Amino acid sequence: MDEQFVELAWPEPEIAMITITREQSLNALNPVVLDQLEARLNEAEGLPAAKVGIVTGQGSKAFVAGADISVIHHVSDATQARAFAERGQALFQRFAESRIIFIAAINGYALGGGLELAMALDFRIASETARLGQPEINLGIVPGFGGTQRLSRLIGPGHALWMIASGEPLTARTGEALGLIEAVVEPAGLMEEALKRARILAAKAPLALRECKRLVAASRDSSLPGGLAIEADAFARLAVSDDGREGTRAFLEKRKPEFRGS
Ligand code: COA
Repeated sequence: MDEQFVELAWPEPEIAMITITREQSLNALNPVVLDQLEARLNEAEGLPAAKVGIVTGQGSKAFVAGADISVIHHVSDATQARAFAERGQALFQRFAESRIIFIAAINGYALGGGLELAMALDFRIASETARLGQPEINLGIVPGFGGTQRLSRLIGPGHALWMIASGEPLTARTGEALGLIEAVVEPAGLMEEALKRARILAAKAPLALRECKRLVAASRDSSLPGGLAIEADAFARLAVSDDGREGTRAFLEKRKPEFRGS
């Protein structure tokens, strides 16, 4: 049996915690880690109660220091290299499209595939000591797990091209200033901050929470008229859902709503 490199824990019934535990290689992503990440994602999605996920790396040094460079070096041909890139892209897209909202808790280096994983998640909270970069250029290659596409969408083409073409990493604070990171905290407070945000989200009406993720994703991927149509459609469904009725009634009756997920 393969060594276990990805753990799934439940700090609360609605909050999944996925930890990459290949610390001796700075949590680098090889095919076994990718398979196990997918298996843990499937497990988390299999629990209807799961609303929020936190993804982090074991240890204080790295979130994920990239795709495993030895795997890339040993591909036999371009077909195998393409398959590795497409494997990572497809897996990260599954996180992006999951009904669960995912927070990246970036505890150290998020380089190459590590930053690409973090960018496929929904929020990024980083320790002050974290470093963020796409250093593939220094290996004579380019990002392959979505970096050229997601980085540009998050921070704009100029900043993205600088990071990708220079390979220069950013500090967490610079990442925050550019909009790549939503919050920077001292290292000891990282998990507390991630859990605090996860709890805020987990308390919300489940169907509406899912729609928030889907609609904001649509704002990136569709035209404005198309996105507005999807939004109106979701609003219409939720306004007459049980939770929509309950939430508005509770406001009018000056009490806390009790959401049931229907
Ligand atoms: N793939 C495979 N192994 C990796 C790795 C990666 N992306 N990143 C780190 N490792 C391994 C190192 O080979 C080393 O293994 P060893 O102890 O068996 O020699 C171990 O993790 C520790 O890394 P090391 O380089 O000794 O730590 P450091 O503190 O000197 O440097 C980094 C840390 C992150 C700056 C450095 O490891 C690095 O540049 N990694 C590659 C980053 C990268 O290019 N990512 C994109 C890949 S496409």
